Amino acid sequence: MLAAQENRFQYVYFTLSGLVACIMLILFYISMRTTINERLRDDLKQMQRQLLYPKPNPHWNYNNSWRRIGNASLRHEIYSAYFDARTDIVGRVRLDEEITIGSLRVFAILPERLRDSQISCIVRFADFSSYEIVAEEAGAMHDVHNNSFAAWSIMCPLHVAKSSPVQLPQAVALSYGSNRLSQLSPSYVQISYPRNMSELFAKSRATISVCVGPIQENYSNVLRLVEFVEMYRLQGATHFYFYYVEASEEVRRVLEHYRLQGLADVFEWNVQSHLQDLHYAGIVAQFNDCVYRANVVDNYRYAAVVDLDEVLMPLKHNSLADYLRQCDEGRTSGFVFRNVFFYRKDSNDTFNAPAHVMNRVLYTQSKVRRTLEVLPAYIRSKVVVNTRGIVEMGNHQVYRSAPGYVDHIVHQTVGLLFHYRDKCINCKMVLIVDYTARRFGSLLFDRVDATCLEVFMERHGICQLA
Ligand SMILES: *[C@@H]1O[C@H](CO)[C@@H](O)[C@H](O)[C@H]1NC(C)=O
Ligand SMILES: *[C@@H]1O[C@H](CO)[C@@H](O)[C@H](O)[C@H]1NC(C)=O
Ligand SMILES: *[C@@H]1O[C@H](CO)[C@@H](O)[C@H](O)[C@H]1NC(C)=O
Ligand SMILES: *[C@@H]1O[C@H](CO)[C@@H](O)[C@H](O)[C@H]1NC(C)=O
Ligand SMILES: *[C@@H]1O[C@H](CO)[C@@H](O)[C@H](O)[C@H]1NC(C)=O
Ligand SMILES: *[C@@H]1O[C@H](CO)[C@@H](O)[C@H](O)[C@H]1NC(C)=O
Repeated sequence: MLAAQENRFQYVYFTLSGLVACIMLILFYISMRTTINERLRDDLKQMQRQLLYPKPNPHWNYNNSWRRIGNASLRHEIYSAYFDARTDIVGRVRLDEEITIGSLRVFAILPERLRDSQISCIVRFADFSSYEIVAEEAGAMHDVHNNSFAAWSIMCPLHVAKSSPVQLPQAVALSYGSNRLSQLSPSYVQISYPRNMSELFAKSRATISVCVGPIQENYSNVLRLVEFVEMYRLQGATHFYFYYVEASEEVRRVLEHYRLQGLADVFEWNVQSHLQDLHYAGIVAQFNDCVYRANVVDNYRYAAVVDLDEVLMPLKHNSLADYLRQCDEGRTSGFVFRNVFFYRKDSNDTFNAPAHVMNRVLYTQSKVRRTLEVLPAYIRSKVVVNTRGIVEMGNHQVYRSAPGYVDHIVHQTVGLLFHYRDKCINCKMVLIVDYTARRFGSLLFDRVDATCLEVFMERHGICQLA
């Protein structure tokens, strides 16, 4: 009897030790795998940097517009493609006869549910040779909002023979079975590479660019547009990306003025055929395109993703640029500013408008009462991103950061999103007086007047308020 019990103890003892040993072996194996994987990726990065990358399309002027894919009646569209040198966002990398030098990121409009289990990129070279790469990621981005079409993000890894200089593809098209014409007559878009290829692996430039939501519905508020640009310039922004659906003649003149000054890019955003079945004129594709453009093409470190009625307002620093200079430690994908409202219906307080100014009713200066309640992060909040840290961007938050990056919610005493709404959502909200935006007043009034005078000389520098 006693012997049997002893046997059982021994049995349990051996089983447990066996189990522990197995677990340790598995853990050891996993840690080895991780270390090898990390080392492989480090080696890959070093190897990647040793190659030469001549630009395959030196005359391409980065002017994208929406184009049909294959069968036109399906209304599938492609907009842009970027060469993304970050190998750490590629799942299966190679480092043998071929090495992974990054990926191509393509933005398209496709049905929210596409029947195909696989999408491929067809890459085309300067000599018109081409081949197919199966996409590693392809899917509708967030914020479909129950529409039949969605903005898609497609990622095809790019592996090349280990020889320098690297032969890079010039253009890319999408190919998938349910749209047979996409294979038979591909719709190529030029691949956007850095303007300056020698900055491919350089540190990003510590400047702020601004991604502005599509300008549509015959947008006509010129004064607001000028004030918006000048306000962000005072805060340290150096470049603006506009996407253009439809606007008044005056607005187009202002956009052209900033474009000629080298301050803005203006892209056609011809989504007219999807205004009914795609969330907010394809805004999801727009801000993702913009963030990739800022990173890949211009090497700008920051992109503020905002609308024309929104101002990111640091409360303790002199400007957005100052805030980022002092608070960004380099591993933040996005700084999330929480939302407070100012309302257009609220009375105009023009007390601080200097006597000599022509354009007196500026929205950031005449509206001085905001909602007391600060909305939670990710609800109507807006983000200034580190473009290197973004894989998928959302309207109010970062949906996917690159490995090693996380987002940061700006404390409400440090910064807020000032949202100047035309209509109030809940008009009974408690309002408090907030003069923070007025510290930009004296410069802002002068700069707005100066721009309006340059553009609308015949109207004596009045930017007409619609
Ligand atoms: C960009 O392309 C559109 C349409 O093809 C054209 O209307 C526009 O003038 C172009 N802009 C530039 C700056 O080339
Ligand atoms: C294009 O798509 C439409 C609608 O799905 C279909 O009726 C038509 O046959 C297709 N055309 C070609 C050339 O595949
Ligand atoms: C989505 O659309 C379907 C069909 O059009 C409708 O039945 C459903 O209620 C909608 N859902 C939401 C959340 O709007
Ligand atoms: C490209 O970038 C390099 C390194 O930053 C710089 O030295 C060079 O002047 C730039 N070339 C042009 C054409 O801007
Ligand atoms: C756009 O607005 C302008 C004036 O604000 C008007 O003349 C024009 O007809 C409008 N266009 C459309 C398509 O509504
Ligand atoms: C504020 O000023 C604008 C422009 O002068 C005017 O259209 C608007 O009616 C004014 N709002 C109020 C509440 O007085």
